[in-house]
Amino acid sequence: MTEKRVTFASKIGIVAAAAGSAVGLGNIWRFPSQTADGGGAIFILIYIACILFFGIPLMMSEFMVGRAARANTAGAFQKLAPGTPWKWVGRLGVLTGFVIMGFYMVVSGWTLDYFFQSLSGSLHKVDNLSAHFDALQANPVRQIAWMIPFVFLSVFFIVSGVKKGIERSAKIFMPLLFLLLIVLAIRSITLEGAIRGLSFLFRPDLSHVKSTVFLDAMGQAFFSLSLGMGCMITYGSYFNNNTDLAKTSIQVSTLDTLVAILAGVVIFPSAFALTANPETIVNELVAGGPGLLFITLPELFNQMPLSMVWSALFFCLLALAALTSTISLMEVVTVYLHEEYRVSRLKGTLLVSAGVIILGIISSYSSLFFNVLDVASAKFMLPIGGFFICLFMGWRLKKNLILLQLTNNGELPARAKLLNGYLFLLRYVIPIAILSIFVYGIVG
Ligand code: PHE
Repeated sequence: MTEKRVTFASKIGIVAAAAGSAVGLGNIWRFPSQTADGGGAIFILIYIACILFFGIPLMMSEFMVGRAARANTAGAFQKLAPGTPWKWVGRLGVLTGFVIMGFYMVVSGWTLDYFFQSLSGSLHKVDNLSAHFDALQANPVRQIAWMIPFVFLSVFFIVSGVKKGIERSAKIFMPLLFLLLIVLAIRSITLEGAIRGLSFLFRPDLSHVKSTVFLDAMGQAFFSLSLGMGCMITYGSYFNNNTDLAKTSIQVSTLDTLVAILAGVVIFPSAFALTANPETIVNELVAGGPGLLFITLPELFNQMPLSMVWSALFFCLLALAALTSTISLMEVVTVYLHEEYRVSRLKGTLLVSAGVIILGIISSYSSLFFNVLDVASAKFMLPIGGFFICLFMGWRLKKNLILLQLTNNGELPARAKLLNGYLFLLRYVIPIAILSIFVYGIVG
């Protein structure tokens, strides 16, 4: 198995593939609504702290586990700690992947729907975008009709193989999305009244903070960086031996955070500038809901010349960003079935799709179910997975193996200096922080 495993083709391809997994609806749809819900700037500050203290070290850890074992997520734990219960951490990850796909595919379907509405020009004619979004929410059949093609789009890329499918798509679409977000951000902050949105984003205001803000920000950090479920273990297993894991983790996390903040800079200034009732906008945002992106963005496009073109381009790129993430989610489960149960990739993917479609159908009918999947995966399953990955790295793996991974078998000797601090984080700081946040979020 080891010698047959494929690897990504180039350095840039590695960063693009991992960033393709990380950057997705989590950044552009979930981050803004979590930020609104968490009261703005204060949420963002805690979020960034989570990225720095948990995100980067954990991403490095997942890469190391994956590259050291060159196996799927459950197989990796099995290989590095044979005959121990650690493989359950990998299995939990596979389950988490399912749970995430169960609502993520539905939102991906919304992006396709809005893309085609932009193309046909019908989105442009809508007067009340908020009611328009509510109508979609109230129409499960329509949501399902867009979700299913999206699932099969992901299947197509999974089946076409690691290098060609994942790497190539990520390399092209990611930079385009980034550029478009910059253009939109400029339009948004130059609207009249945009400044209040910027201050909501960047000036902490303690009056809207909830006791769950730490839990929410931590969950969002795990979700956005695709951590805690073995996605980066699986991708790490395709990295070649001279990939600098520390550097790659920093690059991917930085890109991911930039995209999230850019999405905030696109959405909040326009939400403030384009609202009919500026007095209540903060309360409305905090009361939020999943529609923020799908309501505010079309309003912003209406402020631009050729609005339909921008709108179509944006929703197309958003769907593609979602696709590079669903590919990574599906890859985790597929390669698990392929390697552990010897089913072919095609058969594995089709099995996964059937399960995901069933969950997606239930999510389309029940917003409660949708929310349960979202909260269970982001706020609980991913941080719990991350907690155990930390313990595995800190307490179970041999220090020497970590050193070899960190320095690429001694080729990057300078990295050795990081080892002790890194281990200290993994052994004590991160697990204790995750536990404290859980306790505070649940009891506080
Ligand atoms: N990180 C992805 C996003 O932000 C979602 C994801 C979570 C993908 C976990 C893979 C694993 O959209």
